[in-house]
Amino acid sequence: MYQVHLDISKSYDIYIGSGLIEKAGAFLSGIFPRCRIAVITDSNVYPLYAQKLGKSLTESGYEYDTFVFPAGEQSKNLSTLSDILEFMADHQLTRSDFVIALGGGVTGDMAGFAAAVYARGIPFVQIPTTLLAAVDSSVGGKTAVDLKAGKNLAGAFHQPSLVLTDTDVIADLPAHLLSEGAAEVIKYGVLEDTELFDWMCSETWKEKLSEIILRSVKIKQKFVSEDEFDTGVRKLLNLGHTFGHAIEKCADFSLSHGFGVAIGMAIAAGAAGKKDVCAKIIQANTACHLPFSCDFSPAELAHAALTDKKRSGDYVDLVMPHKIGHCVLEKTPVEYLSSLFEKGLAAIKELT
Ligand code: GLY
Repeated sequence: MYQVHLDISKSYDIYIGSGLIEKAGAFLSGIFPRCRIAVITDSNVYPLYAQKLGKSLTESGYEYDTFVFPAGEQSKNLSTLSDILEFMADHQLTRSDFVIALGGGVTGDMAGFAAAVYARGIPFVQIPTTLLAAVDSSVGGKTAVDLKAGKNLAGAFHQPSLVLTDTDVIADLPAHLLSEGAAEVIKYGVLEDTELFDWMCSETWKEKLSEIILRSVKIKQKFVSEDEFDTGVRKLLNLGHTFGHAIEKCADFSLSHGFGVAIGMAIAAGAAGKKDVCAKIIQANTACHLPFSCDFSPAELAHAALTDKKRSGDYVDLVMPHKIGHCVLEKTPVEYLSSLFEKGLAAIKELT
């Protein structure tokens, strides 16, 4: 089992290992006295892991109630949040109780936000069940729901008290969910870690899941420790996200986040004029069964990117890969976006 410690406005540990759902009660009893728990999960995860988690909680003397919402990004809204808050109130949770988010990014973001606002804030614990949640969204305290105007537009920074990543659960994921998480792992490689990146360039990356999660979480820990509230270096974690989010939006969100990020990283490298980096990202994406291009026009993509919340005034913060293991944050005038999409997509076309 691996342990990563985060020491920011709140200190907490991230454990990565086999069988951690079964041991959840024991981990929790080291942090929380016996109390009530609201377990928040979705309709996909509930039949797979809720019973196992419940048994462990009961054995450790906790009382819990489970809220299950329909799986999918379409549930990540104010209406489900309101239902979760009413559920917590109906079950008389107090400030001495806590929430468990059992699931992927949607569950973690929404349960975390519910914990952030219920009774002006109660603790919560992340038990990520997707690779993407394990390496990214479960760590660092970003919680949110979507508004009609855009994704994650209502939210709060609220750090979890504990993160438990059960590697047996991650190893059992269907291929498309592993690929989706792999995009975020490739991102950490491009940002900081050439060896991690090289692992992702071979189909054998799935044999190193625990190490990959550990290396990714350690990189995330470093960025979050330096910039908890995302005003500086943490923005580098958005590599591929501005370009990728525009693609997700043009595809009416039929393309998943990880797939958008994968294409977005290739576009970013091409737009930065780094064809060698772009070629390597295409190689990693291919090994991880991820896409590396799209058919939308630069003008359509630029228009979609202009409504991104990461835009500030007439500028957008873009993360440009200069080489594998080194990226630079560039404040870019929004009128350059269309030509950057064009340059990035042209580089990808030339290379493939
Ligand atoms: N997912 C990017 C961040 O946590 O900052």
